[in-house]
Amino acid sequence: MANYANEINKRRTFAIISHPDAGKTTLTEKFLLYGGAINLAGSVKGKATARHAVSDWMEIEKERGISVTSSVLQFNYDNYCINILDTPGHQDFSEDTYRTLMAADSAVMVIDASKGVEAQTRKLFKVCVMRKIPIFTFINKMDREANDTFELLDEIEKELGIATCPVNWPIGCGKNFKGVYDRETQTVVTYSDTEKGTKEGETSIIPIADEEALLAHIGAENKGILMDEIELLDGASAEFDLEAVQSGDLTPVFFGSALTNFGVEIFLQHFLKMTTTPLPRKSDKGFIDPVEEDFSAFVFKIQANMNKAHRDRIAFMRICSGKFDANMEVKHVQGNKVMRLSQPQQIMASERKILDEAYAGDIIGVFDPGIFSIGDTISMPKAQFRYEGIPTFAPEHFARVRQMDTMKRKQFVKGITQIAQEGAIQIFQEFNTGLEEIIVGVVGVLQFDVLKYRLENEYNVEIRLERLPYEHIRWIENKEEVNVDRLTGTSDMKKVKDMKGNPLLLFVNPWSVGMTLDRNPGLQLSEFGKNN
Ligand code: G4P
Repeated sequence: MANYANEINKRRTFAIISHPDAGKTTLTEKFLLYGGAINLAGSVKGKATARHAVSDWMEIEKERGISVTSSVLQFNYDNYCINILDTPGHQDFSEDTYRTLMAADSAVMVIDASKGVEAQTRKLFKVCVMRKIPIFTFINKMDREANDTFELLDEIEKELGIATCPVNWPIGCGKNFKGVYDRETQTVVTYSDTEKGTKEGETSIIPIADEEALLAHIGAENKGILMDEIELLDGASAEFDLEAVQSGDLTPVFFGSALTNFGVEIFLQHFLKMTTTPLPRKSDKGFIDPVEEDFSAFVFKIQANMNKAHRDRIAFMRICSGKFDANMEVKHVQGNKVMRLSQPQQIMASERKILDEAYAGDIIGVFDPGIFSIGDTISMPKAQFRYEGIPTFAPEHFARVRQMDTMKRKQFVKGITQIAQEGAIQIFQEFNTGLEEIIVGVVGVLQFDVLKYRLENEYNVEIRLERLPYEHIRWIENKEEVNVDRLTGTSDMKKVKDMKGNPLLLFVNPWSVGMTLDRNPGLQLSEFGKNN
């Protein structure tokens, strides 16, 4: 075991997900507040600037008021070192969310108490389920009128198909919000208005058995309701079971109000106890233990032009084992090259801090001259393994790219190739027609806009996109055995190849996929591409 195992075991790395406006940004900011990374006065002012800064990564985000890129924040709290991975708030970027979740050990799902499970919560949750990671639920905005608590839990269970276990329970809501009851310690933690978090609040902790104090703080009516609800709850809700939490089958639920700072620290304290230290990661040589001496990491995200002032590309990697030292030589496994990682940094919103060392569980960004791909492994030079790749989502929308100014072919190819390497789009070419036209496939249609915008702004190339009717893509699994030229499909089928020359088929409807399989005995098709 590494002698820096202590450092590693202090780490907690999680992603935060929510439907836009549920309070993800506010909650994250309050975490930082409790971690001492920002101060109270700064937080209110800091909010607008922090948001602005993050959004500045891409102009398009500002225009549409949504965050399509994700960032990483690190802070310390109570002897823990915490890494928060922000996820994009738009459904068209669920692939990006999936990759971010690959780098996290658990996820925090923020839900607006007056809205319950919203469209985007559902989509993001599905991605969490694919990744099978523990999910912690924070029901926010209790200082506003909220839906019935039992109904909220019921909705989570029914809509998302995960059992819930309330760790605490709200007493009233909106103007009548009094605080929460902590089930483990059987105490009531009282709420006080902090005027939108601009002033310090005062909380009291009252044992549930202390009737007098309870009456004085929450009143007879609230007390009566609380007692009834506790009884109901103890009979009806799932038992807390850490194993079920860790396998993603049970979500611990917390209530609070991020805006007024209430319930955030209580959440953080419970959450940090319940969530795991950095987990072992699967490689082709079995699981790699994070506390192993040797450094290893994998790339989960590549992002260009995060900041207009630095026209560069950053590869984000999750450290999976050991300690990273800025001067050490490492091996980029897929490139089979020993190298030093250039300008290793931690990204705090849009600010960057060059770092000297980091440990398993941490996320670092390194300057990428165009050599890394998503899913790549970085290890010590002598190591002989690679981490399991990150699957690519099948694109569901396709368009032919027409370049307006044919003189700029080189810039166009460079731009579109680089954007494809980041994983935001996938590019294809006609199969054996000799045409050099490019077909682009995306998971969410907003990526078409991003592509067009970025080509214009970063590469000075104007394009026109002509949408194609295809919605289903299949990779040919046994391409060595199949003569693609001879394949007979349906009239709506299109043969293309990816940039590595692999043949693929595009279809308008699933029926044609089945028909093509029938007509070509022995043909094996797959819905997933692999990127390493
Ligand atoms: P997001 O990142 O999930 O999109 O949500 P964000 O934190 O930006 O919060 C969305 C809105 O909800 C913000 O108001 C924020 O102040 C408010 N909010 C967050 N948590 C709470 C809470 O616990 N209680 C109440 N009452 N409101 C909350 P806004 O008006 O859109 O922005 P701003 O003018 O406050 O910056």
